[in-house]
Amino acid sequence: MLVSSRLTRCLALPPLSTTSTALQDIASNQAKGVAKVILKKGKTQLFRDGSPMVYSGAVDRIIGRPPPKTGDMVLVADGTEKPIAWGLYNSSSMFCVRLMQLDEEVSGDPCCALNMEKLLETRIDAAMRLRNNLGLPSANTNAYRLVNSEGDRLSGLIIDVFGDLAVIASSAAWVERYKEHIKKCVRGLEVIKSVVWRPSTEILKEEGLDVGDVGEQESSERVKVVENGISYMISLDGQKTGFYADQRENREFISTISDGQRVLDMCCYTGGFALNAACCHALDVTGVDTSSPALELAKQNVLLNNLDPGKISFIKQDATLFMKNAASKNELWDIVIMDPPKLAPRRKVLQSASGMYRNLNSLAMRLTKRGGFLMTCSCSGAMTQSGQFLAVLQASLLGAASMAGRKITIVRQGGAACDHPIDPSYPEGAYLTNILLRVI
Ligand SMILES: C[S@@+](CC[C@H](N)C(=O)[O-])C[C@H]1O[C@@H](n2cnc3c(N)ncnc32)[C@H](O)[C@@H]1O
Repeated sequence: MLVSSRLTRCLALPPLSTTSTALQDIASNQAKGVAKVILKKGKTQLFRDGSPMVYSGAVDRIIGRPPPKTGDMVLVADGTEKPIAWGLYNSSSMFCVRLMQLDEEVSGDPCCALNMEKLLETRIDAAMRLRNNLGLPSANTNAYRLVNSEGDRLSGLIIDVFGDLAVIASSAAWVERYKEHIKKCVRGLEVIKSVVWRPSTEILKEEGLDVGDVGEQESSERVKVVENGISYMISLDGQKTGFYADQRENREFISTISDGQRVLDMCCYTGGFALNAACCHALDVTGVDTSSPALELAKQNVLLNNLDPGKISFIKQDATLFMKNAASKNELWDIVIMDPPKLAPRRKVLQSASGMYRNLNSLAMRLTKRGGFLMTCSCSGAMTQSGQFLAVLQASLLGAASMAGRKITIVRQGGAACDHPIDPSYPEGAYLTNILLRVI
C-alpha cells in the first residue's frame, strides 16, 4: 500500500448530506466508493480558481475505504467535505492530486465526470481542434505540439506530432496508468498513423514509478518533417521528444532578418535557427553544439534542404570555449542566437544558473557586431517565472569590461509557439523566454 500515512485518515465515506453537489451525486451513483481528499481551511480557493495540482501541504485528510492508490480517481473537497473537483491521486508525489474537472464543469459536461477514458477522448479531441484552428498541420509545418500538459488540461502529458507519428511523453503516474487508452485516443485521430511512447524516467521516479515499471523504451527510428517549409530529419531518441517545436515562431522570425547576414547559432541542436537563416540567404551560417547525434542530423538537414554546404557549417564544441576562442580572434557576427539547455532546473539553483546565463550572454554580446542582433533564450521555467532574465542580460552587458560603452535594447520578446498553450491558473507552464536584443 502506497498511501502516505501523514495525509491519510481512512474513514468510511459519510452519508450524503449538505455536501451534495453534481460531482458528489455522480460519485455516489458509482458502484465503488471514491475517496475524498479534504483540503485544509483556507486552501480551497486556489483550486476553485483552476490551479491544476493539489500539493500535499494543502491536504487536511483523506477519507474513504479502501484508501486511494496512485492513479485512482478521487474527489477533492473543501473543509465541509463538499466536492469542488475530481482528479487523479498520487501517494508518492508532492502533487498528490492532479485535478481533471471542477465541480461546476460537471453539470455542463457530466459524461466526463469521474470517467477518465471519456475525459481523455474529449480533451485530446479539443487539443486537436485547437491546433487545426491555429492552422496546424499545414503544407509548411507538420511538426507541432498536440497536447501541452496543463495548457491542454492534461497535467503530465505531452504529445508532439511529427507528420503522421505522435510522440507521447509521460511525466505523471496517471499517464502511465492510462497509457493504452491515451494511445488509442491518439491513434483515433485522423492525422495519426503510429505512436511512440517516451516516459520521462527521472520525473516519473518522483511520481513513485521506477524506470523498471515503465516498460517500453525509446525508438531509434528517424522521421522526416517540415517546419516553416524547411525539412528536418528527427531522431526519436533525440532530446525531449526529438524536436524543439516550441521555437518554431522564433526560428521563422530569424529567417526574416537573415538575408545577407553572418549568423551564429549557439547550442544549435539539429540546426533549427541555422537552417532558417541559411534558407533565407544568410551570407554564412555557423552552428555550434556539443551533441554529436544532433550535429549529424544538422548536417543531414543541410543536404535535405539543398543548401550550399560551403555556406553553412556545424561545429562540435562547448559553447563557452567556442565563444572565448572566437572573441580572442575578434570574430563578429551580425546575428547571434543563444539557446542553451535548461540551466536552472529548479528555483533553488536560480542564483548559480543566473551566473551561467550572465557569462554565456556576455560572450554572445561580445561576438555580436555593433548594430547586430542577439536572440537569447532561457528554457528554464524558474528563470522565466522569476522575471529576472532581462536583469541578467543587463548584468551580462554591464559586468563585462569588454562591453564598456556598449548598450542593448529589447527589440522583440517571445516565448513558445502558439501550439504550447498555457493555463493562466498555472503560470509555471510558461518556461521559454526568447528575447531579441539589438547590441549597439
Ligand atoms: C534548447 S536546446 C537548443 C534547441 C535548438 N536551438 C533548436 O532550435 O532546435 C539546447 C542545446 O544545447 C546543447 N548543449 C548542451 N550543453 C552545451 C554546451 N556546453 N555547449 C554547446 N551546446 C550545448 C544541447 O545539446 C542542445 O542541443
